[in-house]
Amino acid sequence: MRDIEISPSIISSDLSHLYDEIKKCEDAGAKSFHLDIMDGNFVDNITMGPDLIKAIRKSTDLRLDGHLMIERPDKYYKDFIDSGINILLIHYEAPININELLSKLKDNNIRYGIVINPDTDVKKIFKFLDSAEILLIMSVYPGFSGQKFIESSLNKVKEAREFVDKNNYKTKIEIDGGINDKTGKLAIDTGADILVSASYIFNNIKENIKKLKSL
Ligand code: DX5
Ligand code: ZN
Repeated sequence: MRDIEISPSIISSDLSHLYDEIKKCEDAGAKSFHLDIMDGNFVDNITMGPDLIKAIRKSTDLRLDGHLMIERPDKYYKDFIDSGINILLIHYEAPININELLSKLKDNNIRYGIVINPDTDVKKIFKFLDSAEILLIMSVYPGFSGQKFIESSLNKVKEAREFVDKNNYKTKIEIDGGINDKTGKLAIDTGADILVSASYIFNNIKENIKKLKSL
């Protein structure tokens, strides 16, 4: 059996009680935190920047994954690493030279993963997976929490699972968007290793992390 990791997305937490929310997630068994970073250009929403991330860093020792929904990850990645992010999740669709950015990250020993949007063919990113720690498959169009799970993303999870296993890669397959106890179960059964959840978890942290962990 694969170990399944639950990664709460801070975007749906009560930011006025951020520290307590983080501790509740840790107590319930979260193994990392997912930080949705949006710049109002790559997606139609603006969320957190390095200062808030520094506060999150001071509140937890768990791994912080930065989901960079920004147009210029090549320009800002250092700021996010300096603020305490452990793994940068880079969108394949970012309007930059992705090969260049990934080799820079590799040369500097910066941990990273690749993210694909619902309309992107998963095969396109297979060539990056030998050194990516995470393949994040979006199961909603990025921008907002609380959207409905796109079922066809499961086909990509399955294809990615087969590819990763066949090549003996260590890459973890992660899914993000519309995850709850039902869609989470489908994703695990299809091959996902990490479940990201925002609205479902923060609706009842203790109960819902427990449910996701028991799937
Ligand atoms: C979407 C973000 C997701 C999202 C998840 O742009 O990348 O992480 O906030 O929210 P839920 O779990 O509510 O779909
Ligand atoms: Zn995300």
